[in-house]
Formats: sequence, C-alpha cells, structure tokens
Amino acid sequence: MNLVFLQMKHPIIQAPMAGVTTPKFVAACAEAGALGSIGAGYLSAADTRKFIREVKARTEKPFSVNLFIPEIIEPNEKQLEDAYNALEPFRRELGITSEIQKRSTSEFDDQVQVLIEESIKICSFTFGMPDEKTIHLLKENGVYLIGTATTVQESKLVVDAKMDAVVVQGSEAGGHRGSFHGELTLSPQNELLIDCVNAVEIPVIAAGGIANKMMLETALSAGAKAVQIGTALLASNESGANPLHKREILHSTEGCTTFTTAFSGKAARGIENRFISEMKNAEIAPYPYQNDLTKEIRKEAAIQGKSDFMSLWSGENVHLTTAGTVKEIIEKFI
Ligand SMILES: Cc1cc2nc3c(=O)[nH]c(=O)nc-3n(C[C@H](O)[C@H](O)[C@H](O)COP(=O)(O)O)c2cc1C
Repeated sequence: MNLVFLQMKHPIIQAPMAGVTTPKFVAACAEAGALGSIGAGYLSAADTRKFIREVKARTEKPFSVNLFIPEIIEPNEKQLEDAYNALEPFRRELGITSEIQKRSTSEFDDQVQVLIEESIKICSFTFGMPDEKTIHLLKENGVYLIGTATTVQESKLVVDAKMDAVVVQGSEAGGHRGSFHGELTLSPQNELLIDCVNAVEIPVIAAGGIANKMMLETALSAGAKAVQIGTALLASNESGANPLHKREILHSTEGCTTFTTAFSGKAARGIENRFISEMKNAEIAPYPYQNDLTKEIRKEAAIQGKSDFMSLWSGENVHLTTAGTVKEIIEKFI
C-alpha cells in the first residue's frame, strides 16, 4: 500500500506536535492539501475525542492522530528528590510556591478505543510501538499505522511490527527524539533516509529540518514517499504555539538550537535558553517524571512572558521559518 491511501493533495504531512497542534491548525493543514495530524500525546481520552470532533467540524479532509507509547519506569526516589532540588532556583525566581503536581498518567488504551469509535483511519506513534494486541485491533478496524524511527534498526522493528509506513526522524528535527531502541543516535535526515529506504519495503516519510521546496524535492528523489514538517509551520497564524515561542522562532539565528533532557527527561531539540544552559550539569529525572517536575515552571514562565524558562522546541533549520498562513507556507513547498 502506498501513501496515495492517505489522500492528501501534496506529499506533505504536518508533524503532530503535542501541545502545539490545535483543531484550527490541523484543519488548516488538511485544507491546504497536507495530511493534518493531531498531536494527542499529552491528551486524556476524553480530550482526544473532543479534539477529533473539533477537527471533523472544520474539515472533511482526512487527518491522522499521533499517540505517545507510554513508558513504564519505576521512579528512583533519591533521583526524583535531587531533580526536584535542581529546579528550586527556577521555581523561586518565578515565585512558584505550589507543590509539584502528581505524575500525569497515560490513557493510551482508552485513546486507542476513542480512535476506533471516531473512525480515525490514520494513526502514528512515537517513543516506540504499540503491543501486538493493539496493532491487531487497529488493523482490524482499518487503521493505517505509521511508526517513527531514528535509526535503520528501529525502522526494521517498525516493519516487524507490521506497521504500514515509517517516519524517519533525522537529527535536525525539532521536539523529542522518537528513539525507542538502543543508544540515542543522531543521524542527519538525508543519510538516515537513504539507509532506511534501502533497508525497508514500506513507504518511508522523511522528517527533520525540511524547510523549503528544494529540501522536499531532495527527500522525494532520495526515495521518501512524503515529508513530515513541523518547525516550518510553527510560526504560522493558525499554529497553537505560544506567542513567545513564535517570537523566538521568527527572531532565531542559525545554530541556535540544541538538545536537552532538562525539560522532560527525554532528549529533545529546541532553541537554547537560560533554563537549558543552567541545567546542563543538573540531576534530571527520567521521562516522564522530569516533564511533570518542570510543568509548573513552563506554565508560569509563559504567564510571566519569560521565554528563558519555556521549552522552545524547534528544529535545526528554525532560522528559515517564516510567518504567514498555513496555506501560504505549504504553497511555498510546492
Ligand atoms: C514543537 C514540536 C512538537 C513535536 N511533538 C511531536 C509529537 O507530539 N509527536 C511526534 O511524533 N513528533 C513530534 N515532534 C517531531 C515531529 O514529528 C517531526 O519529527 C519534526 O518536527 C520534524 O523536524 P522539523 O521540526 O525540523 O520539521 C514535534 C516537533 C516539534 C517542533
């Protein structure tokens, strides 16, 4: 099966971006001829359903839903305490006195049920793959499944799990690494793409740093069936990115991004700021605990207009991002 199945006009998938994608943004991307994607990773099952219905109310075009594979790691109390203490200076500076909220729980299985009930036909995953039972259930319900890989080996595991397509995420990509097997590997998108195209038979979707028409065409001629773009759409009018995030993106310069685990406990690429630099040697709790520990800091920083303490997720080519409507930005790729 090829990507014609996804029925988008252009070989472009709007990257699912949890916390940034809004119904208006996803629908605008779908209407502009890309495949819209709901970043449902942090949503409850009820909010996932509400989001899906809001997109359906805005567009009849197909769209996908992206889920995070839940990670079950037993917390080490000492590590959690040290990580908490490392955040204290930032909490103090922002005047946060409230207790750290309890760990958020994943509603993955209920989300899957929602997808089936809402007749979603395309679903992508990051941070691993669902178990065999879930894959079987989704396939039985006619859902096209897209995995995420950051290495050739992961792309083969995506095939072994009987997924229909694979997003290969190069090191330039903004946001979290989708890595789920072995050491964290940082291969540039163009190299990873060619290696994965040669290694697997399913459609390969290129992601990471794709910022213009030329880069899209290069990826397609190297064998990608489509590209997945995130950062290029982040500052669009319809994007749900925080206005401070958009401002930093539009004022960004080449080389301003870096990898950090300081916000969530998982490696992610974003614009370097004070929080990232000052947390470089600090104790960091594993994902998703660190994410919970920093939630209040990120929220309060946004309220106080302090982008220095916000997670400004963006890809390596963020300096090429422009403002405009989603339609205008997507048309520049065609
Ligand atoms: C703000 C932001 C949030 C992201 N959230 C997700 C997500 O929820 N799920 C996912 O699979 N990928 C997520 N990604 C990664 C994208 O799917 C994709 O790999 C990346 O945007 C491609 O690189 P680019 O940003 O340079 O275009 C996110 C990326 C960004 C920039």
